Amino acid sequence: MLTGIQPSGDLHLGNYLGMVRQVLSFQETDDVYLMIADLHAQTVPYNPLEFKNRILDLGKSLLALGVDPKKLVFFRQSEIPEHLYLYWILGTLTPLGELTRMHQYKEKKERYEHVGIGAGILMYPVLMAADILLYQSDVVPVGEDQVQHVEITRELARKYNGAFGEAFKIPQELLIKETARVMSLDNPEKKMSKSLPEGNLPLFEQEQEIVQKIKSAVTDSGSEVIFNEREKQGIANLMVIYKELTGKTITDIEQEFKGVGYGVFKQAVVESFLSFFKDSRKKKENISDHQVLKVFEEGKEKAQSVARETLYIVLQQTGLK
Ligand code: ADP
Ligand code: TRP
Repeated sequence: MLTGIQPSGDLHLGNYLGMVRQVLSFQETDDVYLMIADLHAQTVPYNPLEFKNRILDLGKSLLALGVDPKKLVFFRQSEIPEHLYLYWILGTLTPLGELTRMHQYKEKKERYEHVGIGAGILMYPVLMAADILLYQSDVVPVGEDQVQHVEITRELARKYNGAFGEAFKIPQELLIKETARVMSLDNPEKKMSKSLPEGNLPLFEQEQEIVQKIKSAVTDSGSEVIFNEREKQGIANLMVIYKELTGKTITDIEQEFKGVGYGVFKQAVVESFLSFFKDSRKKKENISDHQVLKVFEEGKEKAQSVARETLYIVLQQTGLK
């Protein structure tokens, strides 16, 4: 399996509950490729110096959370040029109309209208298809926002296999249903996102910031901690978070906070978060740049040998070799 994450901001609780924890569990038993999608992150404006640091920081965060380079292959997308080669070939097979209909394209096009965006954002799903197909992935652990991209990957794999010969496996997305879409704390109608820092909960943020963000999470005018996703979206989101961090059931949680109001519940969410991530937060402080770079170097070797094999078949089948 392969999955990726963009160095476009601080790693947050949505990333962890939607995707990272799937990786941590599958690395024990499966053949996992975990990639920092640095080329994808360059489809929106960025500052090069800051960007370089974000890549290292994301590497440290993931290692601190338990990503183990002895158990999986952890690498940077930009270090494997095969991704770009396959991206081009798949691009020639991709219907333009389909790319312009993607949710993410429409949303980002609007959000970045004032600065103007390049064609990278349109071609984004094609690069993601190349990432997935190069490693012959059967499954792709992701959050809900990426499902449409895995769907187009399947379509491109079938189209290519039909036209040139069976080069690719047909991949399937893998979601954790309850947490495939953790909502933003300041607007429970939007997904928690790296690019919307006001409402996200960065795992390695200062403690005071975390306390403040959870305590000021948008709820509703009521006071009962009961699960109702339609009418009490903010509370429902916090309840799911608390459930996942403590292992309690929704019914237990409703019982536990009966009659006490939102303030007490929010304090419990703060405590569950700080206790769940305590060890990782400590561990990150001791991981050096050098350590991360070494991990990427080893990952590059392993990833490239697989990517090369797939690309070689494609080059032969398409008449380039
Ligand atoms: P973001 O969308 O925050 O910028 P990425 O695009 O790098 O983060 O996503 C990395 C992984 O985390 C993807 O699998 C994505 O689907 C998942 N993910 C992102 N946000 C959430 C969320 N709010 N809830 C669940 N999963 C999420
Ligand atoms: N586009 C994904 C995201 O924003 C990151 C990503 C890049 C990815 N390549 C991938 C995820 C391949 C899964 C498989 O979350």
